Amino acid sequence: MASFITLSLLFLLLLLLTTTAVAAANFEEATISQIQSAFAKKQLTSRELVLFYLAQIRSLNPQLHGVIEINPDALSAATKADDLRHRYPGHHPLTPLDGISVLLKDNIATRDRLNTTAGSFALLGSVVPRDATVVRRLRRAGAIILGKASLSEWAHFRSINAPSGWSARGGQGRNPY
Ligand SMILES: *[C@@H]1O[C@H](CO)[C@@H](O)[C@H](O)[C@H]1NC(C)=O
Repeated sequence: MASFITLSLLFLLLLLLTTTAVAAANFEEATISQIQSAFAKKQLTSRELVLFYLAQIRSLNPQLHGVIEINPDALSAATKADDLRHRYPGHHPLTPLDGISVLLKDNIATRDRLNTTAGSFALLGSVVPRDATVVRRLRRAGAIILGKASLSEWAHFRSINAPSGWSARGGQGRNPY
């Protein structure tokens, strides 16, 4: 009997540990549907997720050079997504991307505070006429534009033997794995 209780307690403890591990800030490998289910169960907010990503970028980007710019409006967009989810719980997620953060390659036009430069200083400060269609659709689906990801400068049109993953603005991007 005693060993049964010990075993049950141990099992319960393991169960608790695994469920809290999912709830805790450990999203490196999470799928969008896992994130949506954590949103729905109130284990996670879009804001917490953005804060987690920002901390990851801060700590890893100096080695990985994967991100060129952070969207200064990402956190407020996440807060807005959280507010909508709490206000209309039956209607969310409206789409699978609702409240999900995405990074866009730096040659995809966004008409917001982010620059669109294909990694080049030549385009820094230029203003694109409008959001790219994919961006318009992402925003309509409720996605949060977290920032601009690095790329081979000019999407590798700089020269035939330009280094892969290098851009003047981003530096040499590295494989995180
Ligand atoms: C866009 O580029 C300008 C420089 O022209 C810079 O001041 C600004 O911070 C950049 N935007 C972001 C979101 O980094």
